[in-house]
Amino acid sequence: MKTIEQSLDNALIENVVTHTVDELTPRGLFNFNAPRQTLMGEGAILRIGEMLRHLGVSHVLVVADRVVHEKGLMRSMERSLERAGIEFTLYPGITREPDETVVATATELVARNRADFVLGFGGGSAIDAAKAIALAGSCKSSLQEMAEPGFSGRRTIGLGAVPTTAGTGSEVTDISVIMCADRQHKFVIKEVDLMPDLAIVDPALMLNLPPLVTAATGIDALTHAIEAYAARSSHPLAKALAICAVQSIAEALPVVVGNSGDMAARLTMATAAYKAGLAFSNSGLGLVHAISHQIGARYQLAHGIANGILLPYVMKFNALVCQRQYAAIAHMLGVTHSGMTEREQCMASIAAVRQLLCDIGLPGSLAGTSIHRDDFADIATGALADVCIRDNPRDVTQTDIVQLLEEACSTKEKN
Ligand SMILES: NC(=O)c1ccc[n+]([C@@H]2O[C@H](COP(=O)([O-])OP(=O)(O)OC[C@H]3O[C@@H](n4cnc5c(N)ncnc54)[C@H](O)[C@@H]3O)[C@@H](O)[C@H]2O)c1
Ligand SMILES: [Fe+2]
Repeated sequence: MKTIEQSLDNALIENVVTHTVDELTPRGLFNFNAPRQTLMGEGAILRIGEMLRHLGVSHVLVVADRVVHEKGLMRSMERSLERAGIEFTLYPGITREPDETVVATATELVARNRADFVLGFGGGSAIDAAKAIALAGSCKSSLQEMAEPGFSGRRTIGLGAVPTTAGTGSEVTDISVIMCADRQHKFVIKEVDLMPDLAIVDPALMLNLPPLVTAATGIDALTHAIEAYAARSSHPLAKALAICAVQSIAEALPVVVGNSGDMAARLTMATAAYKAGLAFSNSGLGLVHAISHQIGARYQLAHGIANGILLPYVMKFNALVCQRQYAAIAHMLGVTHSGMTEREQCMASIAAVRQLLCDIGLPGSLAGTSIHRDDFADIATGALADVCIRDNPRDVTQTDIVQLLEEACSTKEKN
């Protein structure tokens, strides 16, 4: 007499031996791309020379913006490179939301100096520029070509990132966002080779970040975490990183906005932005980013501020299909208590995001911006064509986006 377990075992073995690997249909697979090396913690920047020497780098092109350069944030890096005997060229000409002309100018410096490594030092703007420069310098392609689906150019020049804001997570993403020369649209390039080889994350470089930039960049990280957690292509690894980032941001963001010199909270935020970046780079984003890519470019609205305004409106729209995910987020935001239904928890997560925006002094409505109602249809068309839309958990139409913008524009601040 065979036991039930034995019959099941036999059936399982039969299944395995009669299906060769080739015949199986892969399901639930996911790819995970991350920097080859990360050094994180207070004083990490002091090791940069040693790390680059270990990678065999001889000449680094360091790209940064003027503010970061003038504030002297790059001095420890310069000393470390000198000690390690690594040559470097500084290009402190990256503008906020860099455009293709800036990228082209810096790419020429790669060839002129025979740089074998490009380092982005600063916020997402400098790091995104470094990525585009390293790829363009390697394969001599234009941004237009690099943004084409199926682009096959490979990066041969090394790439590193030193973030000085805790937000975009650009140090761990395979994405670069660059403005077109008309400054009306953005190239959003997603390429495996845009993932930096090296990320050096030092919270000491973030201590002097002004409260408004701290708040806006921190909300960008929260948006990454929430969108990655609920994205259609999300998977267990991305979800684990995203949910953990939500909890850290809820704890540390108000602290760093109110006390810029709190090193422990700065490290918590830097780590959370890193986790959220890894999560969304490997799983996708959603409607918040699809819209903010359009309005940021048109109305010169800082990326984090645009995301923060849109986030609760998009969550409300997506709640129809995301109740369980948003309930989990509410738990991490610390706004659940026993006896609450899943629906109540879901709604509590949206209210908590609004409250956080208000607490850290960010706007809760588009009413105070220069956005025009006449542009809503164009913005919606752009958002529907944006690479981020395909991972939004709920299907979206043109009318949905226009309605959402109407709501987000209502003069009454929702906070
Ligand atoms: N690649 C990605 O995955 C990704 C994700 C989200 C956003 N982005 C892009 O990143 C850009 C936004 O990046 P950001 O939000 O980090 O802003 P940012 O890089 O534009 O920097 C904002 C401002 O803060 C200043 N600053 C930076 N670090 C400082 C410091 N330590 N002390 C004082 N001032 C400092 C800068 O000089 C700048 O004026 C946008 O172009 C956005 O599209 C990229
Ligand atoms: Fe973002």
